[in-house]
Amino acid sequence: MKDRPLTSANLIPSLEPKMRDLLERHRERTAKVDWAYHEFLPLKELRANPDFLPKLSPTVYLAVETALFTEVNLPWFTSGLTQIFKGSLAPMQEFIHDWTSEEDQHGLLLETYLLLGDNGDHGERSRLRKQIVRVGWEPHIEDHFQAIAYTAMQELATQVFYLRVAHFCQDEDPLLARALRRIARDEVLHMAFYRDAVKAHLEVEPDYVEPLVKIMLEFAMPGAGMKDYATRSAILARQGVYGPDHYFNLVVDKLWKEWDVPALMPKAETARAAQRKIIAQHEKLGRIAARYAVRAAPGTREKDAARVALQQQEDMLSVAED
Ligand SMILES: [Fe+2]
Ligand SMILES: [Fe+2]
Repeated sequence: MKDRPLTSANLIPSLEPKMRDLLERHRERTAKVDWAYHEFLPLKELRANPDFLPKLSPTVYLAVETALFTEVNLPWFTSGLTQIFKGSLAPMQEFIHDWTSEEDQHGLLLETYLLLGDNGDHGERSRLRKQIVRVGWEPHIEDHFQAIAYTAMQELATQVFYLRVAHFCQDEDPLLARALRRIARDEVLHMAFYRDAVKAHLEVEPDYVEPLVKIMLEFAMPGAGMKDYATRSAILARQGVYGPDHYFNLVVDKLWKEWDVPALMPKAETARAAQRKIIAQHEKLGRIAARYAVRAAPGTREKDAARVALQQQEDMLSVAED
């Protein structure tokens, strides 16, 4: 009998209790760290001294603006995910509501911070922002499972990006670094929900490795549609804020280990072929990331640079979840 590729990997109904547990865990965690965006704005200090906030360097401004331009498409992310999960498991649909209310604060905090610090050209930012929201976001996602795999990767990439920018601007503007770390904490809780939902599905249905591979191979950030995204990314990578080595070590490889992709035992031949393909690709990406880490830290041996990057991963991720 000929194996046919999966065409629709839906969320698995028997996993509804597990999804409910993940939602409840998420709610417990967010209740513990509940926050409001105004708490991260130095309003009292600014009343006493309107120049209280430092002017941001071009790199930090670019990073914050890029993050903001991604967050502003929230209406489209919500509408896209709502459509994808229509008729799916109830905890998943409820999570989208919680998630939207949490994400809503991110763009608000970033925009207000830039305004109060009088950073950047407010008119130009507003014009670009409007353009980006008008273009919107169209998910190239074919089923429920691809959606949770994509969002797991996206949330982790976003968390790592925020933590990298926070690290980068710590001396320049410690209050901004604090705000970015706060947002990163939201992102890691989102990631944990999706990551564990993906893991539960792979355990029940290892053939889901096939849609997982599709997402991992084609992954692009939701902000990738903004006009000058490639230039922004190249500058931020060159400045050491967030580059291919961070993406591989702190995002792809982290989830790779959590999902234990090489150990999955898919039954369908197409799924086994997809697994073989991603294992080869993962090794290749690892080599590219190690070479990139060496270029970013001249004088370091490949092994050392890779080890340092891994250490960063441990340090950064241990602070954020729970
Ligand atoms: Fe966010
Ligand atoms: Fe998020």
